[in-house]
Amino acid sequence: MISSPFNPNSPLASSITTLLFVTLIIGGIVFLIVLGPTLYSYIRFRARPGDDEEPYQNLGNTRLEVLWTVTPAVVLAALFGLTLLTMRRSDPPVPDNAQPDLIVTGHQWWWEFQYPDSGIVTANEIHIPTGKRLLVQVTSADVIHNFWVPQLGRKVDATPGYTSHIWLEANKPGTYLGACNEYCGTQHAWMRIRVIADSPADFAAWEQSQQQVPVIPTTGDAAKGSQLFQSLTCSNCHNIDGTAANAHIGPDLTHLGSRETLAAGVLNNTPGDLAAWLGNPQAIKPGAHMPNLNLTPDEVHALVAYLESLQ
Ligand code: CUA
Repeated sequence: MISSPFNPNSPLASSITTLLFVTLIIGGIVFLIVLGPTLYSYIRFRARPGDDEEPYQNLGNTRLEVLWTVTPAVVLAALFGLTLLTMRRSDPPVPDNAQPDLIVTGHQWWWEFQYPDSGIVTANEIHIPTGKRLLVQVTSADVIHNFWVPQLGRKVDATPGYTSHIWLEANKPGTYLGACNEYCGTQHAWMRIRVIADSPADFAAWEQSQQQVPVIPTTGDAAKGSQLFQSLTCSNCHNIDGTAANAHIGPDLTHLGSRETLAAGVLNNTPGDLAAWLGNPQAIKPGAHMPNLNLTPDEVHALVAYLESLQ
């Protein structure tokens, strides 16, 4: 699916696309009206051999001047009116005391998502139910980021120490891609957002699975990985529900295995890509706050088995 503002999938984003097309069409018509007579005059009234007189000098035409003053004023007034309407449609006012359905926090260089009602915390990838308008509260933990999923709504800055609000809504189930839209450092390009719109029933099932506390594995590589995770410094930054790891500096890993990508979209969430990431994060996303832990291949293998089991 192409994630472009030309292909909106929500009433919020549709209003912006309509304004864009109306502006482009009006701009195109004005361009032709100005360019056509100009080109015609160049050709029709060009200097020819044997011309010796000055051409006719037009020193003013009240009717024409009124026309080219009033017409642009009317066009601009119409676009201004349509813009106000679009602002209202794409960004409806937030009712007093409304509680957010989703809290987004930008970090260098990943997104934290919290669902206050269900207590679900995830990263870089969210599920939303179709046909429901979600109130999204947006903030930042460090520098200014910008949250934008073009097919679903407008963009909004994520500013440290300040909360903004937008609405997010999807007409149809599908995967909608977004990204950070405010330059925020070396890995700005790798702050991707993946919104998976589910039917209400599928969303309820996802919600339920995300609320499960993972069982701590007791056998095999996954058990080894689970012990390693707690003994290494992983738990200084990450949270996994049901374990001693409860830090929220890096992405929540409670259900890492259920997500489609890793490191905010750099890698697919496959055992091979996860092993590459754990083996040398700095080679894949230079500057990211995930350090190289100099793990042995056996340790990587065990950690991959454990983390991929966190469905
Ligand atoms: Cu975050 Cu750009």
